[in-house]
Amino acid sequence: LKVLHVCSEIFPLLKTGGLADVTAALPPALEKDGCEVRMLVPGFPEFVKGIDSPDLVTELPAKFGARRIRLMYGKMPATGVPVYYIDAPDLYDRTGNPYNAFDGQPYHDNHLRFALLGWCAARLVEGFDYFWRPDIVHGHDWHAGLAFAYIKALEWNTGKRTVGTVFTVHNMAYQGNFPAHVFSELDLPFSMLNPDGIEFYGQVSYLKSGFYYADKVTTVSPTYAREIQHGEQSCGLGGVVRQRSSDLVGILNGVDTHAWNPKTDDRIEANFHERSMTGKKKCRLALQKEMELSEQKDNPVFCVVSRFAAQKGLHLVVEGLNAIVERGGQIVVMGNGEHWLEEAFTRFAQDFPGQVAVRIGYDEDRAHRIFAGSDVILIPSRYEPCGLVQMYGSLYGTLPLVHRVGGLADTVTDSSLENLVENRATGFCFEHFDYSSFDSAVQRAFALYERQKDWKKVQKRGMKLSFGWERSAKLYAALYRQIKVGA
Ligand code: ADP
Ligand code: GLC
Repeated sequence: LKVLHVCSEIFPLLKTGGLADVTAALPPALEKDGCEVRMLVPGFPEFVKGIDSPDLVTELPAKFGARRIRLMYGKMPATGVPVYYIDAPDLYDRTGNPYNAFDGQPYHDNHLRFALLGWCAARLVEGFDYFWRPDIVHGHDWHAGLAFAYIKALEWNTGKRTVGTVFTVHNMAYQGNFPAHVFSELDLPFSMLNPDGIEFYGQVSYLKSGFYYADKVTTVSPTYAREIQHGEQSCGLGGVVRQRSSDLVGILNGVDTHAWNPKTDDRIEANFHERSMTGKKKCRLALQKEMELSEQKDNPVFCVVSRFAAQKGLHLVVEGLNAIVERGGQIVVMGNGEHWLEEAFTRFAQDFPGQVAVRIGYDEDRAHRIFAGSDVILIPSRYEPCGLVQMYGSLYGTLPLVHRVGGLADTVTDSSLENLVENRATGFCFEHFDYSSFDSAVQRAFALYERQKDWKKVQKRGMKLSFGWERSAKLYAALYRQIKVGA
């Protein structure tokens, strides 16, 4: 079964969030399940530089504002997963991140940059690589959304259906909406600019294109698949989502257990596992030293490793910092994004030296050290399609404290008295997205920390959870087989 994944980030070459972890780990897991996977990505500088000795597949005429377009083929470092990248310097050779310029503003031609990605997916379906045609095209997030419109247009043109399609939504809030006038630049049949198509309140929506034209739609946890059908979490697309509900499934993300394993992780001070936890103590001490925190042992070290975006609910942490410090806790925060959060956390670090440490920025290695050296990871997200950091926390013996939504609800079990008695607890969940609910979960974390015997039991249970990709990969592979054309 030949599967083409279309996306814009793959770890370790390019990552702005959990999407890159998924697109790095899912393909190798699918290969174990009998799929032959290739990736298609825009030729961002990170891919052009990071993919060794690529071959030219084909050269394409100027399109979408790109004077030179070359489809290149190479392999991902480490995993060796084959990748096509679209070498189109006019569109992709920029100095900001994949979506935004340095000033944080989206590039003015994003509609074209990601139209080219979708268009190339349809060309691969058509046979642009003489040696390889996909049976399935699997696109991720709005960046790949237009692939499904181009593939549908190809079917209309040729009267033939040659490929099955899957669209995975990692986050409903990022929709790729553009003014309707850009439609004429997209080279799509005019009938698609329609509420039964890619039109969305007078705009063109790349996310809706995926929802509307893909054979199957998946999202990254079963709870989120339910949540996006109604209300706030549908982000205005509830109608389309419900229309597709019989083709919508929630498949929980996994964890790349090679990259995230405290037993073998070489980025942390000392290795450990659930039967031998002295390494974790060393990691904690090393983290306290690195972050210039006092070397106390009697109270928990909390941490946050996150994008500072409204989604993540970090204003609750800002509100709760005083109380954590007053109770004797310490906290390490790493992330960047919204300026007011960067400033608020930085101020706390100045006010509470030795107890609060903040690093503004993005640092993959330090993230490992923080997960390994902390006791509790705070994830008070307003919504969370899946979330990976709560799973990393669990595996590293750092109890997740989460708002019970989306994938957080599917992966963390609260340390309520019943759950403790029945040996199910793995962390702390709060129900209501408000400060008092968050604070009582924090209080429960302090209370459990006092009862070290119970704490260790919960910690061990989390470390033993199996979050590997095997299970999820099987579900995706089964879905592909269900829709394979001519299967
Ligand atoms: P999202 O994709 O919404 O940001 P996830 O929990 O799915 O949330 O994934 C976040 C990923 O980004 C994780 O791999 C996490 O370790 C990483 N991450 C987030 N912020 C930082 C940071 N400041 N430095 C290093 N890694 C980070
Ligand atoms: C998005 C979501 C996050 C999810 C990740 C990978 O970034 O915000 O919850 O874990 O995608 O699917």
